[in-house]
Amino acid sequence: MMERVLITGGAGFIGSHTVEEFLLDPNYEVIVVDNLISGKYENIKDFDVEFHRFDLRDKVQLESLFKGKNIDCIIHHAAQISVRDSMENPVYDAEQNILGLINILDLSVKYGVKKILFSSSAAVYGNSKTLPLSEGDDTWPQSFYGLSKLTGENYIKLYSELYGLKYVIFRYSNVYGERQSNRGEAGVISIFSHNMIKGDSIIIEGDGEQTRDFIYVKDIARANYMALKNNLENEVINVSTNNEVCINELFEHMAKKLSYKGKVFYDRERHGDIKRSRLDNGKLKNILKIEPRYNLESGIDAYLKKRAPRDN
Ligand SMILES: NC(=O)c1ccc[n+]([C@@H]2O[C@H](COP(=O)([O-])OP(=O)(O)OC[C@H]3O[C@@H](n4cnc5c(N)ncnc54)[C@H](O)[C@@H]3O)[C@@H](O)[C@H]2O)c1
Repeated sequence: MMERVLITGGAGFIGSHTVEEFLLDPNYEVIVVDNLISGKYENIKDFDVEFHRFDLRDKVQLESLFKGKNIDCIIHHAAQISVRDSMENPVYDAEQNILGLINILDLSVKYGVKKILFSSSAAVYGNSKTLPLSEGDDTWPQSFYGLSKLTGENYIKLYSELYGLKYVIFRYSNVYGERQSNRGEAGVISIFSHNMIKGDSIIIEGDGEQTRDFIYVKDIARANYMALKNNLENEVINVSTNNEVCINELFEHMAKKLSYKGKVFYDRERHGDIKRSRLDNGKLKNILKIEPRYNLESGIDAYLKKRAPRDN
């Protein structure tokens, strides 16, 4: 039977790839809500989706959408995604990342939505001495962004306990790929490629020894699709490659690929940034029975091949 999926933030980076993945399956019909604050309509203009432009904090508009549409499932991507902005303006971060979600949860219960898939983040863990991080490990965010994501997770679990709403919480590691903007939580690969191709200098924040677990966006979109397809229920799962690479190594790799001869400068460490990140993806493999198809090298190759000039 045809399922109707609402993808919030569907005109954004990960959202638009998720839209694309669902549209490969004729059993899904996709509706997108996005206020285009960081997303772009052109990211989805070629796709067969119903698009609504408004802010999720506007509950009246949101309710009129729910009322008319019989939504089966929701993939909630809409959020402010910048760690830096969350540190400068925690109120804005909480408004975007928590209030919008509460509207979605309230209306999901009222209109009988079957399931919500929430895009959480590695930022919920904070700094940990032992890596890789597993889903049962302590969560102690180092940024307001991480805190608002963790709070979102807890709202979802309480709505589930109280009203039976089913959920999947995915904690993505650092995602990269085409259509990613040059700012935000994890735009380092898009910033490096943008600057290297233009011949501009590169700025590395901190000493460059901080590590990240980079995952290609197509693997994220596939995990989102498989979670609904395989009826995953009430699980918190890391979506990652379980590989750790430091920013200096990433720079070297990309500089070689792009024959970059420009300058590299080191700047102050970013407030709220974690030092090391690597997420265990055992649960993804065992429960969802998928694993990433791309490693960092093949993912960067795919990205550089498909990267459009408008990714600049
Ligand atoms: N990019 C990453 O590495 C990464 C890692 C972990 C988690 N995530 C999460 O994945 C999700 C998608 O991130 P992304 O990298 O694609 O970012 P993005 O900025 O490209 O996507 C967010 C989308 O949400 C929209 N939006 C924001 N606030 C809105 C609101 N109040 N109402 C309606 N639309 C709104 C934006 O216009 C944008 O299209 C976010 O929830 C983010 O926290 C991203």
